[in-house]
Amino acid sequence: AKITFITTDNKNITVEGTSGSVMQLAVDNSVPGIDGDCGGVCSCATCHVHVAPEHVEKTGTASEIEEDMLDLNDYSNEYSRLCCQLEISDKLDGLVLQVAESD
Ligand code: FES
Repeated sequence: AKITFITTDNKNITVEGTSGSVMQLAVDNSVPGIDGDCGGVCSCATCHVHVAPEHVEKTGTASEIEEDMLDLNDYSNEYSRLCCQLEISDKLDGLVLQVAESD
């Protein structure tokens, strides 16, 4: 699946992956602003992204534990996801993710 990240300084970076988490794909491709500090266990929020509103049906909704993490985040909104919780599949092809601000 091809996934496009829009960085906080408005650069578009399109990367392609076939498996694993979207966070890992971003880290492997050095997408700025996606750090994945906790290694993908939903406890750091350094993989916070905003899903393009027209793409929310591709990603589905956040799990309860993910919601709890996002609730603590000053920059979260209704389109927020932790992208370590997004599993790459064909379903995500064309997905656009805005890298979230962080402190
Ligand atoms: Fe830590 Fe996603 S990588 S919450």
